[in-house]
Parts: sequence; structure tokens; C-alpha cells
Amino acid sequence: MSDPNQLLHVHDEEELCVCFHVKRRQIAKFLRLENPRHASQCSECYGAGTGCGWCIPFIEKMFEQHQAGVEHPDIELDPQEYRARRKDYLRRTPGAKPPPGSGDADPPPPVPGEDDGPLIDEILPE
Ligand code: FES
Repeated sequence: MSDPNQLLHVHDEEELCVCFHVKRRQIAKFLRLENPRHASQCSECYGAGTGCGWCIPFIEKMFEQHQAGVEHPDIELDPQEYRARRKDYLRRTPGAKPPPGSGDADPPPPVPGEDDGPLIDEILPE
């Protein structure tokens, strides 16, 4: 019996939903096992697509491939380019907020009275 993992695309281990760290492989498995009727049901796969919204068109594309009978739905996009485009999307889309803990959410505002660390004048050499 052959190892089914050998059939996976090389990019399957990359995160498709960066907000919730959902890999392309997990979305593909969800599609295969759950056979959802609507692309939006992919949110049941670890919350994919419910953060900033960037990955939704890609999830929809994988869903469409699954509906068309593609055995290993995937998207053809370099992982670094995918993340770079997402960063640009987050910059351009005011309502697109990644969830806390996603690693790229805005840092929390400083709390008044808490130590903010050394001032820049204290760090720079004279
Ligand atoms: S990358 Fe999937 S919701 Fe943000």
C-alpha cells in the first residue's frame, strides 16, 4: 500500500489561514472527509477564514477544485509571496484584523504608568 502523504503537494504544510495556523493539508483533508456543501463551512476546520479574511478566496478556490473532483485541491502560490501579499492586504484593509496570538496582530497599546523600556536617547551612543 502506498503512503498517501507522498501524494501531497509540496506546499501542503504551509499555512493557508495564517490567522489560525491552518495548513493547506488540513483544508484539503477537511474537504475530503467532510465534503462541505458551501465553502464557508471550511470555517469548521480550526476557524479557517474567520480572522482577517485574507485566505477566504483561496479556501473558496480549493473548495471549487474539490467540487470539480480534483483529488488534491491546492493553490499555486509561493509561500513567501502569499505572506507578503497578506501583509499588504492587512495594510490596505482597515477592517481586516488578525486575531490576538496570530503573531502579526497589532501590539497592545502601552499601559500608562508601566515601564516602556529605555528612551531612544538612552540607547543611542553620544
Ligand atoms: S489568514 Fe485566514 S482569516 Fe486571516
